[in-house]
Amino acid sequence: MKLNADEQAMLDGDGAPGAEARQKAMNLLVRYGEALGAEKLVATNNVAGTAGSSSTFIRDYYAKDGDGERDRLFSRFDLDSDEATDHIPVARTFTCHLQTRIDPDHAEMMGTPSGAVEFHQEGQAHSASLGVQLLNTCTPYANGNVPVRGEHCAWMESSAVVYCNSVLGARTNTEGRESTAAAMMTGKIPYWGFHLPENRLGQHRIQVEVEMDSVMDWGMLGYFTGEAVEEEIPVLTGIEAPASLIRHKHFGAAAASSGGVEMYHVAGLTPEADTEDRAFGPNKPIQDLKYGPTERRRTYETINASGHSDDVDYIMLGCPHYTIEQIWEAARLLDGKRISTNTALWIFTARQVKDVSDRNGYTKTIEEAGGVILTDTCSAMSAAVPKGTRVAATDSAKQTHYLPAITGVEAWFGSTQDCVEAAITGKWKGEAP
Ligand code: F3S
Repeated sequence: MKLNADEQAMLDGDGAPGAEARQKAMNLLVRYGEALGAEKLVATNNVAGTAGSSSTFIRDYYAKDGDGERDRLFSRFDLDSDEATDHIPVARTFTCHLQTRIDPDHAEMMGTPSGAVEFHQEGQAHSASLGVQLLNTCTPYANGNVPVRGEHCAWMESSAVVYCNSVLGARTNTEGRESTAAAMMTGKIPYWGFHLPENRLGQHRIQVEVEMDSVMDWGMLGYFTGEAVEEEIPVLTGIEAPASLIRHKHFGAAAASSGGVEMYHVAGLTPEADTEDRAFGPNKPIQDLKYGPTERRRTYETINASGHSDDVDYIMLGCPHYTIEQIWEAARLLDGKRISTNTALWIFTARQVKDVSDRNGYTKTIEEAGGVILTDTCSAMSAAVPKGTRVAATDSAKQTHYLPAITGVEAWFGSTQDCVEAAITGKWKGEAP
């Protein structure tokens, strides 16, 4: 890999404050980039990862070597180094924290041990001291971190990566804890994959032949798309309904879950697909697929395959984290109602969205109906559902995909309205569109 003078100085250890940690970070990026066949690094000023977060298990694991202290832990765990360093310098580049595993305000309700909360809070303080912005959400693009078209980023979290590439036209691969920590320390990331324009072109064509009028429609199409193209790049044609942040959010999250989609184009809607020809460039479609009423019905049945009992215990909304518009919708659906004594309703969002919800009175409306708004995490991330849950329901194809595997519950997928009705009646009545 070719390094410029700045990168070589970091790799050599230039004697600047924090040089040892930057040296470890650069060493990691060179090893990682070379394994991928990258020829160089690219500068980034936008990192989204989990820098500084760890669990009590990780602390105890490294404490055996005497490396349980925060900076030493960071160098061992986040920078994947065999040797610890005592000084981690402040981030060299803008870095935000993604979702965590803990909502400290609802730890007891989620069954989080108190020692874990305390350690988590110390970790958050450490991350903040390093200059990490504590957004604590899987939707940084809806919460103040909105990269511009062509911007090189280093993001983790599959649903955020696919949004970043496809909807914003910014450029990122799906990075990991260590590579985002190294990017944060150096302002660099290997130049490969989605950073290269030629790797962003369409590979499969999907002709959409049904109306795409709801968030649920977009979630189902995303799920179908991921199953069909796996990790490759689809170009969707025939969609005339206007898209929105929420529709893209649910489409991308579903496509990244049922497959490994990191980028998609919607002809005429997404920034690198103003025309279908431009989306494909010189590529010929590997396959030409159709998404009509039959495919939509089959997809609905696939997503709902784990749902058997109509008696619903738990309604989970907010995957990916709800926007303020979605919380407003939930509040309107719940206004003046009361959820069944047999169900629990948890809505997950970012802290800053909850703050607006509080000020707008939506939190009060939702709480008066018996629901709870949680932040920083979700049921899948924290592997936490209300005690005794056997059957869950959600408006997220992604969450329906993961929740049964992670928590062992049955899960139904439907519209937000289906879910709220299930919360109120305790019965699942959702139907295929
Ligand atoms: Fe976010 Fe959890 Fe879904 S982290 S994307 S709400 S699985």
